[in-house]
Amino acid sequence: MSASGDMATTVQVDLGHRSYPIHIGRDLLSLVPEWISQQCPATEHVVLVFDQNVDAIANAVFSSLENSGCRVSMVAVPSGEASKSVSAAEKIWQTMLAEHTDRGSVVVAVGGGVIGDLAGFMAATFARGIPLVQIPTTLLSQVDSSVGGKTGINLPGAKNIVGAFWQPSLVVIDTASLDSLPRREFVSGLAEVAKYGVILLPDLFEFLEGNARAILEKQPEAISQIVAQSCQAKADVVRQDERETTGLRAILNYGHTFAHALESVTGYGTLLHGEAVSIGMHMAALLAETLGRVSSDFVSRQERLLQQLELPTRYADAKPEQLWQVMQHDKKVQHGKLRFILPSRLGHVELVPGVSEEQVAHAIEMAR
Ligand code: GLY
Repeated sequence: MSASGDMATTVQVDLGHRSYPIHIGRDLLSLVPEWISQQCPATEHVVLVFDQNVDAIANAVFSSLENSGCRVSMVAVPSGEASKSVSAAEKIWQTMLAEHTDRGSVVVAVGGGVIGDLAGFMAATFARGIPLVQIPTTLLSQVDSSVGGKTGINLPGAKNIVGAFWQPSLVVIDTASLDSLPRREFVSGLAEVAKYGVILLPDLFEFLEGNARAILEKQPEAISQIVAQSCQAKADVVRQDERETTGLRAILNYGHTFAHALESVTGYGTLLHGEAVSIGMHMAALLAETLGRVSSDFVSRQERLLQQLELPTRYADAKPEQLWQVMQHDKKVQHGKLRFILPSRLGHVELVPGVSEEQVAHAIEMAR
């Protein structure tokens, strides 16, 4: 991590000739054109794909790009998961064509995870791939989805099933965009931050324990700290296992097997992703306790932190049999066997095979 000028902290994602910086700080949008010309010197045109809900931020990016002499095509996308569809993708491909998008163009994504995944997929596929810049505006996308190059869209009943690994050339995280983020969405993003504490960073976990109030008040220092540490952790994992082939990157899915099943049975949108992850982390910790991998103190300490961050940890209506069925379709199923990412101590998790339905059911029941 390094300070770049007075305004930003920079985390580098080291991937050889595809390395890129993540600039983190407040009020950074006026620096976007300069950073784009550093990373993508041939840029003549920007396709700015943005969430309609953050049009003020998108307009600020538009103005700074236009003032720098760049041609900009604005593509507004409705908020919500429904925009990650084949029909939405087709519409954007057509617009890109009509706007004379070519290899001198760059896609800039302004919004949360939906926009990042969709715009990233547009960049990965149009003209066999053009550069991508991520400007994530939600906490969840700032600490997770904007970094690491996962892009994609959904098919009915199958999330993220069509997509590509396509690393951005630049990520700009303006933490001022969190000022207007609804509290529930902000809190939901904190689940992914707590996740990094459990899987890799005991110091971050302790920082969250000691600074929950400052974080919930969105105090700039505390926010920069947790965003930068989360991005650094993700950058380190992505550098070592970019395409999730060694099992390392899978640790980022701690709590997610339970979470995806909960999201699926409750209907997408009932629980926010981070809320489901928080409950999933509690279930995973309980499963680890059932298997004798961690103590009950570990489970209570993690639950206490999640509660301090105002996240849910329990789901009263959870039906073990139904959740187990859904989990059988999880991406971590290999040769018909489900594997869980489970802690063995604070800051360390492992991929654990051979867990029985009874053990999983017990953990789910304990989290009701
Ligand atoms: N969100 C998990 C990953 O990027 O691998």
